Amino acid sequence: MTGKGHPIIELKGLTKRYGYGDTESFALKDFDLTVKRGEFIMIMGPSGCGKTTLLNIIGLLDQATSGSYSLNGESVESISKRRQARLRARKIGFIFQNFNLISDLSVIENVALPLVYSGYSKTHRLTQASSTLGRFHLKEREYYMPWQLSGGQQQRVAIARTIVSDPEIILADEPTGNLDSRSSHIVMEELKNIHLEGNTIIMVTHNPALTTYATRVINMLDGHIDTDIKTVADRDLPQPISVRFNKKEAK
Ligand SMILES: Nc1ncnc2c1ncn2[C@@H]1O[C@H](COP(=O)(O)OP(=O)(O)OP(=O)(O)O)[C@@H](O)[C@H]1O
Ligand SMILES: [Mg+2]
Repeated sequence: MTGKGHPIIELKGLTKRYGYGDTESFALKDFDLTVKRGEFIMIMGPSGCGKTTLLNIIGLLDQATSGSYSLNGESVESISKRRQARLRARKIGFIFQNFNLISDLSVIENVALPLVYSGYSKTHRLTQASSTLGRFHLKEREYYMPWQLSGGQQQRVAIARTIVSDPEIILADEPTGNLDSRSSHIVMEELKNIHLEGNTIIMVTHNPALTTYATRVINMLDGHIDTDIKTVADRDLPQPISVRFNKKEAK
C-alpha cells in the first residue's frame, strides 16, 4: 500500500444488503466515496444510517454485497482473504467507542498486542509499546491495569495500541462517545497529531463540535451521502512523513 497517485480509498456503487424478500434492507445504497491520503473525514448521521457498516467494509472486517472497493488502487475483491488480514493488521487501525482493551493485560501489554503479528521479539514489542505510550504521556501508567485508568486514559491507551503498528488508515467509530468533553478534546488532540503526520483518518461522531478537527465532513442518511463538505483544500492536506522525506532528499 505505498502506491502513489491513487486515492487511498475508492468506493463505487457500494451496496450492503441484509436479508432477502420481505426482510430485505439496505445499510448502504449505491455509495460512492473517494478518499485522498491525508484526509481527516468525520462522518455524521442518524442512528442506523450505515456509518459503522461503512467503516467495517473500509476496514476489511465486512464485505459489501455489490459495488467496488479499491484500496490504494487495488481492487479489494481480488485480494485473497489471507492478504486482506495482513493488510488489515499492518495498514489499518481501529478505535472503538468502548476502548476494547483486554482487561487482564496491563497497559503496556495491551499496546504491544498488535505487534504480535509483526515478527518482532517480545522485548522489542514491549520497548516499542513503551515509547508509543511515552508519546501519549502514559509512560508512568505502563503497568497499570485498564480498570485503574479513567475513560479518557483508557481511550488514549487504545489509540496508542492502534498506532503502535504504524497504520496508514485510522478508522474510529465514535471514539469520544463515552467521554466527557474535556477528555474528548484531549483524545481529539492526539488524533489531530496523528493526522498531521500524514495519516488518513475516518471518524464517526455524533458530536458536531468535533467537526472543527476534520478536513471534510460527510452527513449520511439512509445508507447514502446526504452532504459532503471539504473544509481544507486537497493541496493543503498533510503529507505522509515518508513522502515529505523523499521530496527533501530529491532536492
Ligand atoms: N447483522 C445485521 N443484520 C441485519 N441488519 C443489520 C446488521 N448490521 C446492521 N444492520 C442494519 O444496517 C443498518 C445500518 O447499521 P449501522 O450499524 O451501520 O448504523 P450506524 O449508522 O452505525 O448507527 P449508530 O449511530 O446507531 O451506531 C441498520 O438499519 C441496522 O439495523
Ligand atoms: Mg454505529
